[in-house]
Amino acid sequence: MIEQLFDPSTYVAGVPFEMLARLRREQPVVWVEEPGTANSPAGPGFWLVLRHTDVQSVMNRPEIFSSWLGGTQTRDPATPEALRYVRRMMLNMDPPEHTRLRRLLTRSFTPRAVAQLEVRIQGHAAAIVDRVTAGASSGRCDFARDVAADLPLLTLAEILGVPAEDRMLLFDWSNRVIGYQDPDYASSAAFDLTTGSGLAREALKLRPTAAADGAMPDPRTREGMPDLYAYAHLLAEEKRRRPGQDIMSVLLAEVDDDGGRLSIEEFENLFWLFAVAGNETLRNGIPGACIGLLEHPAAQDDLRADPTLMPSAIEELLRWWTPVMTFRRTATADLRLGEAAIRAGQKVVVSFTSANRDETVFADPDRLDLRRQPNPHLAFGYGPHFCLGAQLARVQMRALFAEVLARMGRLACDGRPAFLRSNFQRGVKRLPITWSCLTGPGG
Ligand code: HEM
Repeated sequence: MIEQLFDPSTYVAGVPFEMLARLRREQPVVWVEEPGTANSPAGPGFWLVLRHTDVQSVMNRPEIFSSWLGGTQTRDPATPEALRYVRRMMLNMDPPEHTRLRRLLTRSFTPRAVAQLEVRIQGHAAAIVDRVTAGASSGRCDFARDVAADLPLLTLAEILGVPAEDRMLLFDWSNRVIGYQDPDYASSAAFDLTTGSGLAREALKLRPTAAADGAMPDPRTREGMPDLYAYAHLLAEEKRRRPGQDIMSVLLAEVDDDGGRLSIEEFENLFWLFAVAGNETLRNGIPGACIGLLEHPAAQDDLRADPTLMPSAIEELLRWWTPVMTFRRTATADLRLGEAAIRAGQKVVVSFTSANRDETVFADPDRLDLRRQPNPHLAFGYGPHFCLGAQLARVQMRALFAEVLARMGRLACDGRPAFLRSNFQRGVKRLPITWSCLTGPGG
């Protein structure tokens, strides 16, 4: 039942790691059928790449494995217009178009710019833990909602120069984008209009509404997200007029090698990409890492006793709970990958989840080892599209877990977590926990 790997419902019960391990041994590049479901038509099927070395080889050869031809989502865009739309996003470009945008972004998204944000991120992390604990020495909360959800939004608001009071818009937008697989998220409306800025009020006039059957317009089209685009457009115009200190203002002022600048349309598409990529990933990665610590109480003690372990612990937690499970490419030529004869035009999907458990690269791969060295996990991808926000994600996770472990004492499960219905994001919708003050040396 290999199709199970494609079925988003599979992941509500958890990742089928045993099946992935067997396939890594027996059929490391395996053909997966794409049967239709109630809300999406059948697809042509795809090759799923499971071994670490093959995943790297796919990701590092954009001339053979294109991000542009069919986009980077396993499911094909619904119409030619939808394909044209996703191709305008950096994520779905190949060199040289990708290289130009990537260069512009790396000039403004520098390690120094991220370092400057670090103190503010630490402040946000402390404020979140203050809010959850409210001075009490023990309690219970939903870690996914109460602890994890806000930090990525606050950080994104800083980067994008979005007023903090508008940040729940980012939450709603990225919910809608992933909501095409999980109905719980499809028409998210957590943003409170009465507290938003003038920009938000203007943009929200265009917020789409659900059809009679509850369906929202396809969020992977421009028409599906008119409120996001209106907001991004107004924001870009405002930043061109009055640049701020944020990274997007710097980016809009940047001049490329040919003397050109980022167009407003390019900015709008980047805004979409950041709003989703910078939010959803961490909102799942942070509770996922927490599950690692809940299942391994000794690891909590270890980290508390030696905070210098934090950087390697976060890498290991990202390996262990890989938030982005897959990405897609399209073959540009007939070729062989291992035993598989791939034809030009076929979809090739890499599994980071599987690569990060590859026993030929990671000794005892199912074990959480906070001291694992080296740890060449692929949670942030590999090659020319390697995650632009990787450093920012690490800084947020380190800051938040430093606060949580120092201030919330021992964390324990308080019921079953609820997982996202998705074959793309390894998501955590609810994570009930208790926390209690440590009572003495060693807790
Ligand atoms: C734990 C958190 C994160 C994970 C696991 C993650 C994962 C990934 C992966 C796997 C890719 C590669 C896509 C591909 O090769 O097609 C990627 C790309 C990207 N990520 Fe992240 N990401 C995270 C956080 C962030 C954050 C915080 C931001 C921004 C604030 C961000 C922005 C981006 C962008 C812009 C790209 C596209 C880069 C390009 O096309 O060159 N990500 N991410």
